[in-house]
Amino acid sequence: MLRVGYPETIDAELLRYFPEGVELIPISDKMDRDVEIEVWIPDPYPARAMRAWPRLRGVKLVLSMLAGTEWIPATVGPHVTICNARGAHNISTAEWTLAAILALLKYFPLYLDIQRSGVWKRRFEAATLYGELNAEKREVYPPVLGEELTGKTVLMVGYGAIGKEIERMLAPFAVETIRVARTARSEPEVHAVSELDELLPRAEVIVLILPATPESHRLIGARQFERMRHGALLINAARGPVVDTDALVAALQAGRIRAAVDVTDPEPLPEGHPLWNCPNLLITPHVGGATPQFAPRALRVAADELRRYINGEPLRNVVQAAI
Ligand SMILES: NC(=O)c1ccc[n+]([C@@H]2O[C@H](COP(=O)([O-])OP(=O)(O)OC[C@H]3O[C@@H](n4cnc5c(N)ncnc54)[C@H](OP(=O)(O)O)[C@@H]3O)[C@@H](O)[C@H]2O)c1
Repeated sequence: MLRVGYPETIDAELLRYFPEGVELIPISDKMDRDVEIEVWIPDPYPARAMRAWPRLRGVKLVLSMLAGTEWIPATVGPHVTICNARGAHNISTAEWTLAAILALLKYFPLYLDIQRSGVWKRRFEAATLYGELNAEKREVYPPVLGEELTGKTVLMVGYGAIGKEIERMLAPFAVETIRVARTARSEPEVHAVSELDELLPRAEVIVLILPATPESHRLIGARQFERMRHGALLINAARGPVVDTDALVAALQAGRIRAAVDVTDPEPLPEGHPLWNCPNLLITPHVGGATPQFAPRALRVAADELRRYINGEPLRNVVQAAI
């Protein structure tokens, strides 16, 4: 029997698609004895998973429920194969991205503030906000109370599983998409990340949807913010460290850009951090992938990898091959 450890917090009913020949072992972060397992499905909360790790023996394969696996290699070392749950977050994270873009273009954070204050007339503050964000000196009449996504140019940094889903969801808005990934290719056209600085001034919306790696660390810094258009919208659905937080705070405080971030650096964002009070910023506390559909979908991906592992077939989503 192949011993597979899974987070005890997960409803065991969700493991019903797992192949036969598997013994399921619930793993908690409070175990007071060592547990022998060959395959480990870590808790989606890294802190909990890291607390459980010292009690685990014999792990050869880690099947993460998440797309981002950055904490795992340093924890389990190089002799363990690591797979991510590529595909499990496509819909939830792409929907978050669309919602964030529309929320900011429609000034929902401002209107929520107005709703709470109970003053209808404050809606005309939207016109001032538009003028400031677009460095627009002339008054527009009738006043601008929101902006349109349709027809805008969206630059996507990262064009993997989630990036493609975002593009699919953006299609009805007839946006022009500029795609950037590690390497350039055609059909559809994808630019190499080395071209990013040149492409930035073309975009009205910039979506970050790439992994946190040494190469992507602070990919968006002061120089990149300077190259963005006045009023450009930066959406970080990726990982906090992809953006230089100090440079983001400076660009927001200068009123040059607006942003929606689901992820921050540091994360969790500490109380009193300057980012909390930046203008034209929507923060959600890393919730982009977390819908009720996420766990069943991620565990279907894990079940498929397990079946392949048992049958000796190549695994689909290897992010680290054991040495
Ligand atoms: N906010 C959330 O809750 C949430 C949820 C899920 C995922 N995420 C984040 O989203 C990331 C992407 O997920 P995915 O499933 O789409 O991953 P994926 O399918 O592996 O695609 C990653 C994309 O990023 C590109 N990339 C990697 N390093 C890059 C670099 N240094 N510069 C430019 N592009 C780079 C890749 O380029 P190539 O195509 O050339 O290889 C690829 O297009 C995850 O790693 C995770 O950090 C966040």
